[in-house]
Amino acid sequence: MLELKERIEQHIDQISEYTATPGRGTTRLTYSQEDLQARQYIKKKMNEYGLQVREDGFGNIFGKLEGTLKDAPSVLIGSHFDSVPHGGSYDGPAGVVAALEVAGLFAKHNVTPKYPLEIVALVEEEGARFGGGLLGSRGMVGLLSEEDFNSLADKDGISTVEAMRKIGLDPSLPKQRDPGTMKAFLELHIEQGPILEEKKIPIGVVEAIVGLTQLEVNVKGQAGHAGTTPMDRRADALVAASNMIGQLPGLAAEEGKGTVITVGRLNVFPNGANVIPDEVVFSVDIRSGEEEHVLNAIEKTKALIQSFSGNGIQSSIEQLLYIQPKELNAGIRTLLKEKSEALEIPYCSINSGAGHDAMVLSDYTEAGMLFIPSKNGLSHCPEEWSDSEDIARAVRIFYETALQLTEAE
Ligand code: GLV
Ligand code: MN
Ligand code: MN
Repeated sequence: MLELKERIEQHIDQISEYTATPGRGTTRLTYSQEDLQARQYIKKKMNEYGLQVREDGFGNIFGKLEGTLKDAPSVLIGSHFDSVPHGGSYDGPAGVVAALEVAGLFAKHNVTPKYPLEIVALVEEEGARFGGGLLGSRGMVGLLSEEDFNSLADKDGISTVEAMRKIGLDPSLPKQRDPGTMKAFLELHIEQGPILEEKKIPIGVVEAIVGLTQLEVNVKGQAGHAGTTPMDRRADALVAASNMIGQLPGLAAEEGKGTVITVGRLNVFPNGANVIPDEVVFSVDIRSGEEEHVLNAIEKTKALIQSFSGNGIQSSIEQLLYIQPKELNAGIRTLLKEKSEALEIPYCSINSGAGHDAMVLSDYTEAGMLFIPSKNGLSHCPEEWSDSEDIARAVRIFYETALQLTEAE
């Protein structure tokens, strides 16, 4: 059998093959053919490690090692396996692969836990296909109703349910999971920033995760001919949207305290070079470690957008996602630090500026996260890279932690 580090590399390399944009980063949208390929690989490995595999009505994957205690809650370990458009190989898969290898160590050492161990691979964390994000985790704890899930569609109008069926998934399977079936949740993720690399520390124990929101702004104007409509008679939706967007960095700076605002997605309609745009839809992602600043920035953004109304311009704003900043479980944090020390793996405390499934699950179970360094602090781009030796370190820490949490012999 290959060494732990080599197995990790093999998984990462294999999963990264499942991209819609070969040579231009990982594009693995939820319920796409690439999702199906990655899903088949993950399920195959779960089977090889002796786990009982099932999917829920969202397509989340669970691989379970039963415990000796009847009807006992599981210790869950995992992350997501979707990607942003043209992202990297590690955001999500690193955590799924680490979880698989924890199960691999349970199998290798013939460990029988008292509480079950469950490896999880979650869908649509990024929201790249259906918007919002954290869909798999929000769905599984009942924060996303069946009705709301069914009403979601991608940019081509394909609904979640249609897309699931297209790759052979069954949306009628049970969706919600009783929080009483979860004892703890552990997630490894790449840091996606420069701190650990700069400090030369291989492991970050995550203390807290930023609060975040995602807004969708729709600006409507009047379409017209680019050559014949005088400049003072136009209601150009793109000019209005550009002026709004141009003021957002200043608004973030004014709010301060690390508040960040990003417009990462923008669609212009009808998108013809000689047509005055009559509609623009764009996303606004707002984050801060303190909820007060997220809320202030949301109000200021709404006021800014409304201030452009008039002269044929109308705007509406929809909130697709809102999550408060979350502190991760103190007991799990301590346990992760103790295990790192026992294994003589250097670590430090760190906060997360990215959103993670653990922030959803932390309201329902004891959740903890580890970060590993990201090369040059880069993520959400093809250059994203982390050292498989660091993933292996996290696997060893999680293995020891899981042995304790599952009360294994
Ligand atoms: C996920 O990567 C997020 O932080 O939006
Ligand atoms: Mn991400
Ligand atoms: Mn992620």
